[in-house]
Amino acid sequence: MPDNIAIEDAVLAASNVSKQVSSPEGSLTILSNVSFAIDKGDSVAVVGASGAGKSTLLALLAGLDLPTEGEIWLNGVNLTNLDEDGRAAIRAANVGFVFQSFHLVPSLNALENVMLPLELAGKDSPRQKALEILQQVGLAERWSHYPAQLSGGEKQRVAIARAFATEPAVLFADEPTGNLDSRTGGHVIDLMFELNRDSSTTLVLVTHDKSLAARCDRIIGLDGGRLVSDQRAAA
Ligand SMILES: Nc1ncnc2c1ncn2[C@@H]1O[C@H](COP(=O)(O)OP(=O)(O)OP(=O)(O)O)[C@@H](O)[C@H]1O
Ligand SMILES: [Mg+2]
Repeated sequence: MPDNIAIEDAVLAASNVSKQVSSPEGSLTILSNVSFAIDKGDSVAVVGASGAGKSTLLALLAGLDLPTEGEIWLNGVNLTNLDEDGRAAIRAANVGFVFQSFHLVPSLNALENVMLPLELAGKDSPRQKALEILQQVGLAERWSHYPAQLSGGEKQRVAIARAFATEPAVLFADEPTGNLDSRTGGHVIDLMFELNRDSSTTLVLVTHDKSLAARCDRIIGLDGGRLVSDQRAAA
C-alpha cells in the first residue's frame, strides 16, 4: 500500500490494481497500477475516453470482478481475499449499482425489482421500504408496472430506487444518464445527489458529461488503463 493512502479511513480503496485479460493477440492490460482512496460521503466522477478502462475499474471496485494484481478494499474489507459468494455478501450489504442499460429483472414489476436487494440483504418490511423509495423517485403510482411498460427515464429511476433501497455505503453508476434525454438525465442526477446528501452514501459515477463531473467533489481521470489525473473541487 502506498504511504499516502489510508485504507482504514477510506470507504473504498484501490491499491496497485491491474487487470489483464487474454485476447487472440495474447495478454491485454486494461488497467495498470491504479491506486486511490475515496472518503466516505464523497462524490467521485471517473472520466476518460472510450476504452480507457472506466467500466472495468467500476466492476473491480464493486467486487463484480477481481483484479489480476493489487487489492480492492471496501468498507475495511479486502475484496481480493474473498470468493464469489463472499463478494456477493459484501455487495448485498454495501453496494448499489446503476448500469447504463438499467438491468432490471423483466419478469418482476417495479416494486418487486426494488424489493429484491432488500430481501437479499435480509431487511425488515421490504415491501414498505420499497414503496417508500419508489415514492421518493416519483414512481409510487407505477409500482405494479413491469420494465417493458416503463419509459427509459422511468426504468432508470426504478434502477436508482433499487440501488439506493438498502442505503448502501457506496453507489456506483456507469453512465447513468447515457440513455436519457438531457432533461430526464438532469432529474435523475439531481435525484442521485439528493439521495447522496440525505444518506451520506458515497457516489462513484462514470460519465462523459463534463457538467456532471464538475458537480462531483473529485474527478479521477483514466487514460489507457492508467490513472492520469485526480482533481478535487475547490471547497
Ligand atoms: N473481457 C474483456 N476481454 C478483452 N478486452 C476487454 C474485456 N473487457 C474490456 N476489454 C477492453 O478493455 C478496454 C477498457 O474497457 P472498458 O469497458 O473498461 O472501457 P470504458 O472506459 O468503460 O469505455 P466506454 O467509455 O466506451 O464505456 C477496452 O479496450 C475493452 O475493449
Ligand atoms: Mg464503459
